[in-house]
Formats: sequence, C-alpha cells, structure tokens
Amino acid sequence: MPGTCVIGLQWGDEAKGKIVDLLTAGRRYVVRYQGGANAGHTVVVGKEVYKLSLLPSGVLAPGVTCVITGGVVLNPAKVLEEIDELLARDIRLDGDRLKISDRTHVILPWHFAEDRVLDTSTGGESIGTTQRGIGPCYRDKVARSYAIRLGDMYRPDFKERIARITEAKNRVLAAMTNEGEFEPLDAEAIYEQYAEFARRLEPFVADTTEILLTAMEKDEHVLFEGAQGSLLDVDHGTYPYVTSSNSSGVGVANGSGVPGCHIEKVLGVVKAYSTRVGGGPFPTEQDNEKGQYLRDRGNEYGTVTKRPRRCGWLDVVAVRYAARLGGVDGLCLMLLDVLSGLDEIQICTAYEIDGRRTNVFPSHVEDLRRVKPIYESVPGWSEEIDQVQSYSDLPAAAHAYLDRIAELVGCPVDVVSVGPGREQTIVVNESLRKPALA
Ligand code: IMP
Repeated sequence: MPGTCVIGLQWGDEAKGKIVDLLTAGRRYVVRYQGGANAGHTVVVGKEVYKLSLLPSGVLAPGVTCVITGGVVLNPAKVLEEIDELLARDIRLDGDRLKISDRTHVILPWHFAEDRVLDTSTGGESIGTTQRGIGPCYRDKVARSYAIRLGDMYRPDFKERIARITEAKNRVLAAMTNEGEFEPLDAEAIYEQYAEFARRLEPFVADTTEILLTAMEKDEHVLFEGAQGSLLDVDHGTYPYVTSSNSSGVGVANGSGVPGCHIEKVLGVVKAYSTRVGGGPFPTEQDNEKGQYLRDRGNEYGTVTKRPRRCGWLDVVAVRYAARLGGVDGLCLMLLDVLSGLDEIQICTAYEIDGRRTNVFPSHVEDLRRVKPIYESVPGWSEEIDQVQSYSDLPAAAHAYLDRIAELVGCPVDVVSVGPGREQTIVVNESLRKPALA
C-alpha cells in the first residue's frame, strides 16, 4: 500500500504545503485531487519563498512527477502563470514532470461572474468565497449541461460548445443581476483565449487515473496533497459555509480515482490553534486581543485573498471529528512557535449545547453556531522555540500541550513545526522518512 495522504483537519491554511514538501523526497508522484486556485500553499526553501495555488508542492523536488487529477477544477490561466513563474526561477516543468487530467473541469469567465453574484445567496451570512469561480464550476460539473472538461478543449466541437454555453450563461447572468451590472460575455473572445490555453497545456494533458492506478499496482510511492481543510468539506463540513469539493479525507478516492485500499498512511495537519477565513460559525474564535496576538505572530492573512484570518483556540472536538472522518493515524502540529509568550493556553475539549455537554461535532451549522465551547486551560511557555531542533529541547509546557492534544484527538503527534522553514521541523516519527531512504 504505497499511498500517503496529507489532509488539513481544520478550516484550511494548516500549512499542509510544508508537510507535503517534507514528505516529497523519495515519492514518484505528488497528487492534487480536489479544489482549485482557491487553495494557496507556501513552501520556503532556504531563502526562497514559493507561493503555489494549483500546482502541487512537489514541483520543487526534482525527480517527482506532479499530478492534477480530475477532482480538481482548473483555471488554465492560473496554472500557466504558475508554470511561467517557476520557469523564471529556473524550475522547468515539462510533460514528464506535470500531468493534468483530461477529466479536470475548466473554470470559465462566467464562473467568476456567478461567484460574485451568488456568494450572498445563502439567506444569511455570506460564505465569503475566494471569488475564484470554484463553486459555480463544481455546480456545472454536477449539472453536466454547461460543463467543459480539459479533454473537451481538444475536440472539434469545442468552439460550438463555447458559443452555446456563453449564450445560455449570458441570459442567466442578465436575469440574476440588475440592469447595467453585468457586461455580456463574448463567445468568440473566450474561444480564442481558451484555444490558446489548450495549445499551451497540451503537453501536460493525460489520463491521470490510469497513471496512478498503474503506479499503485507497481508499488510506487504516491503522496496525495489535500487542499483546504476537512471542516470545509462540502458533505461533511460546516455546510453551507464550506468549499464545493470533498476536502476531508473522504475526497482522496473520488478526486483521484485511487481507492482507499492503496492508502497506507493518513497524516492530519493541525495548527496549534484555529483559524478560519470567510463566513460561518467558529466556536473557539477569539475576536479580541488574544486573537490578534495569534494573527500577528502567525501572520494570519490569506495566501490567496490576503484577507485577515479569524483566529481562536484549538478546537479538539472539531479536530477529533476530522481525524476520525479521514482515518488519520498521525498528527502534524503546526505553528507551535506562535503560542510562545502566552501565560496560559486554552483547549476546547467539549461543547455545551442546550445545557448538555457533548464531544460530538454537530451536523447542522445552526447547532454549531449555538454551542458554548468548554475549555481546559494549560500553562503556556515564555521562550521562543523557533530554533528548537529536537523534540526533547521543547519546553516542558509545550510537551504537556502536545501530549494532551494527542490524547484528546486519539492520534500520536508525528511532526511538530516551529517555523516556516524546512529546517524548523521536528520529525517525531522517523518512519515518515522511509520512502526517501528506500
Ligand atoms: P470557495 O472555495 O472559494 O468557494 O470558498 C468557500 C469557503 O471556503 C470560503 O469560506 C473560503 O474562505 C474557504 N476557502 C476556500 N479555500 C480555502 C483555503 O485554501 N483556505 C482557507 N479557506 C478556504
């Protein structure tokens, strides 16, 4: 079973890119299987900082083939921009190093327009989408009539398809907006632009399901890189304040075509506290000076949208739920250094709802909105830990915090991160390095 998955156990931005980067050495493939350019991952290599949105973090490791599977919604302009930016920094991607599934659904100009119009239509709080056209593209995928997959762009009827859908979308968007708010889309111009995207992307287009199933049968090591976090999962997250794909562990098989029986290890990535971008309930949110402390020290501003992130204490009810949902067998505890300097740290260990105590994560968002978090307070530590290289050199209070999290979530802590750099990573479970040594 040569597959390893890295998934976020909160509301995204858990620093998964860093863990993917750590585990990439020795893998044959690194795979992005859901989401799109709504994700943002930062990888720091020495003094170089790389910000990626669609390309898997594995592009920075020579010898690894990066794969974007059919579960992803592809913004062709964005992926080409990332390929060009890497080229400008001497990282050349060719068809051997990057494979993009012909099954990916393509984001088109009407998806951006629809994202703008529809974001506020949940009836209450806005979802606060990233405005990258993600939800509208997934909706067209499921509805089928107006969908375009990457493979369709190489078929003789592509131009006719664009014309037909543009005409329909112009009518829909005109009906959804006030007069003068929406400029009708020009089918001819869209066709010209997307035909050029298709030409440039052609060397990368492949049947990635076949490639990955064959890789699994040959026992090649494959790393699956989740985007967003489990609590933003469209089926299992805080619906409707979620993204439009299966961003929890359940999404690996449907997004990539690789069944769960090939997955050997699932790593759950967790911040030492919680953050959320966009709307929706957030029980442990600290909209106060404590939250600002976390935001400042953790530089909690969106990689993609630059929005300030909402910050709060670690919510173990939510993390435990996400870990169980994903079949997680090891935790990566990130940004532990951000907590230095706090006298005490709060862990939410249970919720109270209607006077009842529970550790079950509510299935309805309005119940989650009503919960009162029950906190356990643990001592903090004053010293900076961003230079600490080994687990034993962490302060005793940090050990106690990590031990308590492992106990409450029911999973060991395999990795501790104390800063953004590769060298600021403490690998507790040495077997994670196994494929690199093989
Ligand atoms: P969408 O994915 O753009 O439709 O946005 C839906 C919700 O998911 C919004 O609350 C976004 O802020 C959130 N979201 C989407 N991608 C990410 C991410 O990579 N990190 C954190 N939040 C995200």
